[in-house]
Amino acid sequence: MNLNVTIVENEQAFDCLAAWRIIGEILHNPRAVIGLSTGQTTKNIHAIISDIYKQYPFDVSHVTLFGVDEVTYVPREYEGACYTMLKRQLIDTLGIKEENFIMPPTLSDDFENECRLFQAVLEDRGGIDLQVLGLGTNGHLGFNQPDTPFESETWLSAMDEILEARIRKETKTPPEKQLGGLTLGIKNIMHARKIVLVAKGSSKAGIVKKMLEGPVTTNVPASILQLHPNCEFILDKASAELLQSST
Ligand code: GLP
Repeated sequence: MNLNVTIVENEQAFDCLAAWRIIGEILHNPRAVIGLSTGQTTKNIHAIISDIYKQYPFDVSHVTLFGVDEVTYVPREYEGACYTMLKRQLIDTLGIKEENFIMPPTLSDDFENECRLFQAVLEDRGGIDLQVLGLGTNGHLGFNQPDTPFESETWLSAMDEILEARIRKETKTPPEKQLGGLTLGIKNIMHARKIVLVAKGSSKAGIVKKMLEGPVTTNVPASILQLHPNCEFILDKASAELLQSST
């Protein structure tokens, strides 16, 4: 299988390349609809985009940005809510207008409807031009955990235990309070015109190998990306260390 894998020397090169993929999309298509991801992997990427924009502002007035997923049952203001993270890391520096930053709410009485609405807004804007994705150590994409059907559309997922513990810690949510994750489904992700999957660090090496060299299986949600016609996998050396081709 001929996959588009870019392996870079170190973390700086990784952050810089991924940042330029996003800026490049905006420069190429000023009306682009771009999906972002939160987490340790994308934090510095967003910082680099912000720095470049401060020095060399480019037109973002018609760009739509959104997050692939959102934590639920916590206020939006919690540090770990994707809305707050993205706003602080990128949206505010770029001065993206509120109507062009699309995020599902963290609190709602009717999440099924919120899922439909979130998806409908993105479809109304012409669908996703570029989706940036992080990678869970269990292979999750967004909040789509292992064994999520590939036909899934925007939905409210449970979190795996490790992730839930991390978000509880990050959002200071007590154990008695329920958590969950609203996420684009795998089908929605696969409909993006372009995907950039970013993974760095040796803790991701095992799952990167499964994603790229293992079978396409719901057990490793990210393995479906092998079948996307326009997906680039950006890896640093550490996350690529177990790949056959990199040795
Ligand atoms: C969470 C987010 C995902 C993200 C993943 C990777 O699960 N919901 O969207 O891709 O974390 O996080 P990290 O980059 O911190 O490993």
